Amino acid sequence: MKILVVGGGGREHAIIMKLAESNRVEKLFCAPGNGGISRYAECFDVKATDIDGIVALAKKLAVDMVVVAPDDPLVMGMVDALNAEGFMTFGPDKAAAIIEGSKVFSKDLMKKYGIPTAAYETFTDAEKAISYIKQQGKYPAVVKADGLALGKGVIIAQNEQEAVDAVRSIMEDKIFGESGSKLVVEEFLTGPEISVLSFTDGNIVVPMVSSMDHKRALDGDQGLNTGGMGTVAPNPFYTEAVAKECMENIFLPTINAMKAEGRTFKGCLYFGLMATPDGVKVIEYNCRFGDPETQVVLPLLDTDLVDIFEAVYKGTLSDIDIKWKNECCSCVVMASGGYPKKYPTGLEISGLDDKGQTEGVFVYHAGTKFTDGKFLTAGGRVLGVTATGENLQAALDKSYAAVKKIHFENAHFRTDIGKRALSAK
Ligand code: AMP
Ligand code: GLY
Repeated sequence: MKILVVGGGGREHAIIMKLAESNRVEKLFCAPGNGGISRYAECFDVKATDIDGIVALAKKLAVDMVVVAPDDPLVMGMVDALNAEGFMTFGPDKAAAIIEGSKVFSKDLMKKYGIPTAAYETFTDAEKAISYIKQQGKYPAVVKADGLALGKGVIIAQNEQEAVDAVRSIMEDKIFGESGSKLVVEEFLTGPEISVLSFTDGNIVVPMVSSMDHKRALDGDQGLNTGGMGTVAPNPFYTEAVAKECMENIFLPTINAMKAEGRTFKGCLYFGLMATPDGVKVIEYNCRFGDPETQVVLPLLDTDLVDIFEAVYKGTLSDIDIKWKNECCSCVVMASGGYPKKYPTGLEISGLDDKGQTEGVFVYHAGTKFTDGKFLTAGGRVLGVTATGENLQAALDKSYAAVKKIHFENAHFRTDIGKRALSAK
């Protein structure tokens, strides 16, 4: 098969490497891809949000399957456009992708179907939101823009002033653009966070190995929220009892709710969960593979990913036995100095071979360019240095040993990825 993967980050690199293991794959393409991906798949300079451009590329390359990985093209309806042209496509259609595209939609869905989540109210008017927050008088207060905001649309306000500023900056200054014309104010939950990616064909849902993200920029969960500074899998807080509770109260009810709403979800549904003292609750849904969760989950997959993608598309997922390696995986993200604020690009990266790799680990490229035989930085998150091991400490030791060998000016990484997971045991 010839397969086109849409996207250009570490997640897409991880998807491509797992697809490359399949003996059904003849050729892999990626748009737009990045420096590291270009060493394993042929890359094309078409933006992941360019629906017409991607459809045209898929036709030109006569591919047998298209995998749409990022949230924005999914929410915009790229899968609908590809399906209309007869392509076998992995990813939810526009009607289903709204589960990530609108927080108001997802919160209302959970309320309607009794799926546990933080208590909330929805607002279209800034003054009403502010008076509600003041009347509640409970801090921290969580303020979320309705739409996609590059993962930054959530503000945890520590006091009344911060909450008022959050509402005004989202609704009036539109710091997240039109995604802020509606907002959700919700209860602050506490407890360890668990990411569970799942495959679903709309009929059944098969959770993948669980994982734990590290969203803050600095050690000790300090600093700004980022797209994710590192991940480990499996997540020790996702015990067998928690998994059972999630399947009964969250996973199955969610796919059944989407079906009942006429929005059958096919693809990877990501459950962002928190194990609170009152049970597991949904923090957010994503309509796609997580980044950098995918980088620690897919290396542990022991079943042909092409078979799984095809079964999801055809609605025959129950025919497949999905297997996982009994190992642990860790990913340490090396980011540009300054990320998630302003950072330079175009810095030369040393310590990588001509495939963009270093011994003992797999380096998933997130923001790199390959020019004149050199890898240069080209984004905030640059590399995800990933290793497997018989236990988490062994995996982390390999990741951090490799991080020491890779250099670019002002590279920033957390030194405590996996610390919370290790202490949970
Ligand atoms: P999200 O973009 O929805 O993943 O939110 C970003 C991060 O904000 C989450 O990973 C949580 O750490 C935090 N968060 C979101 N909602 C809540 C909540 N209701 N209570 C506590 N923390 C939250
Ligand atoms: N790592 C969180 C996300 O992909 O949204």
